[in-house]
Amino acid sequence: MKVLAFAASNHRQSINRALAGYAAKRLQRIHPGVEIEFIDLNDYEMPIYSIDRENANGVHALAQELFGRIGASDALIVSFAEYNGFVTAAWKNIYDWMSRIDQKVWQDKPLALLAATPGPRAGENVLQTQELTAPFFGMNIKGKYGVGNWRDVWDGSNLTKPADVEAIDAVVKALLS
Ligand SMILES: Cc1cc2nc3c(=O)[nH]c(=O)nc-3n(C[C@H](O)[C@H](O)[C@H](O)COP(=O)(O)O)c2cc1C
Repeated sequence: MKVLAFAASNHRQSINRALAGYAAKRLQRIHPGVEIEFIDLNDYEMPIYSIDRENANGVHALAQELFGRIGASDALIVSFAEYNGFVTAAWKNIYDWMSRIDQKVWQDKPLALLAATPGPRAGENVLQTQELTAPFFGMNIKGKYGVGNWRDVWDGSNLTKPADVEAIDAVVKALLS
């Protein structure tokens, strides 16, 4: 069982990367045999998608590579940073490129949909946008959770609120059910 985990953010100190890593750690605690593969969006930096670029040179090789990684995984843990109520530009660019290979970017892989924010709204908007558009893009959401007020509930390695820990456990458990 191979799980691909990442933050939809290119922030080097990403709180969403911390959350995706934590969720992966909890999953491995529940299912020790699971293999986790982490990727960093900074390794998938491409020119901004344009139809002209695609017509000239085809779909960028990095988009093909990531699309292949999603296809080779059994499940996904993705934590979305919220920028102005939506996904980050860094992720949207990668997503647009991959959607030119197949609109079903997520390839129906079981997915844990997460978000972390420093403020109290816990990524409500970005989570909603992903849920609303999920059916069109093959996003097979098995569970969803947003963690707000990050600095108050993260001790550097773990979530400190039992309700958050329970919710993350439920989401990652649902990935393999
Ligand atoms: C351009 C920009 C827009 C942002 N917009 C939002 C927002 O709409 N909602 C929110 O909760 N936080 C917003 N934030 C704060 C981010 O949640 C915060 O920077 C967080 O660390 C992003 O996650 P990351 O560290 O995983 O990249 C914004 C930050 C930036 C830089």
